[in-house]
Amino acid sequence: MADGDSFDRQLETADDEPAARETAPSLNEIWDRRIGRRGLLKGMRNAALLAGVASAPLALAACDDTDEPQKAAEPEKPNPTRFKFTEIEHGVDETHHVARGYRAEPILRWGDPILKGAPDFDPMKQTAAAQRLQFGYNNDYVGFVPLPYGTDASDRGLLCVNHEFTSDPVMLPGIAGKNPREVLTREQVDVTMAAHGGSIVEVRRDESGNWKPVPDSDFNRRITALDTQIEIAGPAAHHPRMRTGEDPVGGTVIGTFNNCAGGITPWGTYLMAEENVNMYFMGDPEGHPEADKLKRMGIPTTMYGWGRFHKRFDISQEPNEPNRFGWVVEVDPLNPTAQPKKRTALGRFKHEGCESIVAQDGRLVVYMGDDQRFEYLYKFVSRDPVDLVNREANADLLDYGTLYVARFDEDGTGKWLPLVYGWGPLTEENGFRSQADVVIDARLAADLMKATPMDRPEDVQPNPVTNRVYVSLTNNSKRKPDLTDKANPRAENEWGQIVELEPFAQDHAEEVFGWNMVVLCGNPADEATGASWNDETSENGWFACPDNLAVDKAGRLWVATDQGRAWPEVTGSADGIFALETEGEYRATGRMFFRVPVGAEMCGPCFTPDSATLFVAVQHPGTDGTGSFKGFERKSTFEDPATRWPDFRDDMPPRPSIVAITREDGGEIAT
Ligand code: FEO
Ligand code: CA
Ligand code: CA
Repeated sequence: MADGDSFDRQLETADDEPAARETAPSLNEIWDRRIGRRGLLKGMRNAALLAGVASAPLALAACDDTDEPQKAAEPEKPNPTRFKFTEIEHGVDETHHVARGYRAEPILRWGDPILKGAPDFDPMKQTAAAQRLQFGYNNDYVGFVPLPYGTDASDRGLLCVNHEFTSDPVMLPGIAGKNPREVLTREQVDVTMAAHGGSIVEVRRDESGNWKPVPDSDFNRRITALDTQIEIAGPAAHHPRMRTGEDPVGGTVIGTFNNCAGGITPWGTYLMAEENVNMYFMGDPEGHPEADKLKRMGIPTTMYGWGRFHKRFDISQEPNEPNRFGWVVEVDPLNPTAQPKKRTALGRFKHEGCESIVAQDGRLVVYMGDDQRFEYLYKFVSRDPVDLVNREANADLLDYGTLYVARFDEDGTGKWLPLVYGWGPLTEENGFRSQADVVIDARLAADLMKATPMDRPEDVQPNPVTNRVYVSLTNNSKRKPDLTDKANPRAENEWGQIVELEPFAQDHAEEVFGWNMVVLCGNPADEATGASWNDETSENGWFACPDNLAVDKAGRLWVATDQGRAWPEVTGSADGIFALETEGEYRATGRMFFRVPVGAEMCGPCFTPDSATLFVAVQHPGTDGTGSFKGFERKSTFEDPATRWPDFRDDMPPRPSIVAITREDGGEIAT
């Protein structure tokens, strides 16, 4: 049986590895430590809920905060965590807020010209031709590749930014009160397609400490849903299920969309994760040759009416087009003419992100979430080691390796289950005829392997300082009481949780891991939430719906939140960036650092190598839950938006933007 490998056999296999034998505690030791650290839960609410699985993490040199200089004054309450800044307050208004002593400057806005020849942004005269030369809409993932490449430069680099989706009613004039899916003209559809995808923009920090884009940089590039040719690489390339009328060999697809989170590889390429691709397809699934498979991906959902003008998005006319989306796309930002590639070995699902870390033997491990209720956590382990000297040698590294899906066991351990054609149930009897079938239908393969259905896995963030991995599980309102488990312990979970993985033997390539709950999010003052925080968490420090994650130079965890339309009920506060202590006795203490304007979502936290700048992405300002925004209390539209952030000009709609956060004295953030 595929998942019947005993734990003991795993241990034996691992112990055969010299590296593992020398450096790793045995799994039994990890387990003992897990039980033994329960005493540290004393300060936590709902310790009983956590005790079954909780451990304190390994001690870190960096967690001795008594040695650290206290640079920021903390007049209102002593702050015992390693994050030295004064918290901001929960709240919601028309603009953004950052901790005292910091600057938060919008540096790149939707519509900003970034390619040579781009016109200035004119919201009343949007064209696809202009948009494909300008910064796109709804910035999500942000990555930073220092320039020159191979350095730790923190004053010059390439920002790699995903443009996840468009919020048509506040983006386009003249459609208020109408269904955008039905009323957009061909030109407007093409504008929205050109606003999807990604942007690569050179940015520099000047002597005054201000970040500015370099609009004429040869590195600048737009990747769009409209016209970027993308090669299909890996096991699904050229497979008959990938072929269409426009691409009879199944080798090239036009565009990428719903690029949510992502990652930067150790060789400086930019990974864009395609998430809710179901929303872009229309047509009748009845009689479709792959009707059941479409259903597992929720296709078609038809949020957008692109198929009215582009027949490939109509599944009745182009039945295989959906198989060409839902992948991870690799882009080389250092080579603006290189064709991006869809890396099908990493599986097809609603990819949230793809952050990676190098395993002990040099192979690359990419962690990935599938963001839907009851979906799974995945990782990919490359077959070959990363070449850190010759970056070209990694050109096809992501095409060969093993895709795994996670099973979380009740004893605080877990197993990575291989999704390999011919392994266990992944055979012809169950509809899998090749590895191409396994990766195209990764969700169906994961079902058969009995992976653990999670509470919407979002960003999965390895921490290179501690070797642990953090998993954002954002919420799951549909989990019933009889379907809870220790990793997903709350029914009707509106608040989410953060789980920590400890790879066995500190090796990310291992197939066994230990796991701990870090926080059960929600308001600790409201017992009905079942929230669990360190008691040091203030009334402003708790949060809900964790989404994107980032780790700074010191190995400290930062969390971006996304409550969506539910913010009025879930926290009553706008989304933001929170510091989350993961070490020592103050583990699970949250602190609020930055807040977005009303209706926005917080995305993209990304530090420069020196951790003196934190780039964040303010997505869809003035959009979500504006009916509950006091004094506004109606739907937000282009003509009548809930905020005009960040320009606050009567002739300018709200604009999704990248914000650069720096300390006024230029120092490392939160030290
Ligand atoms: Fe695009 Fe799961 O957030
Ligand atoms: Ca997200
Ligand atoms: Ca991240």
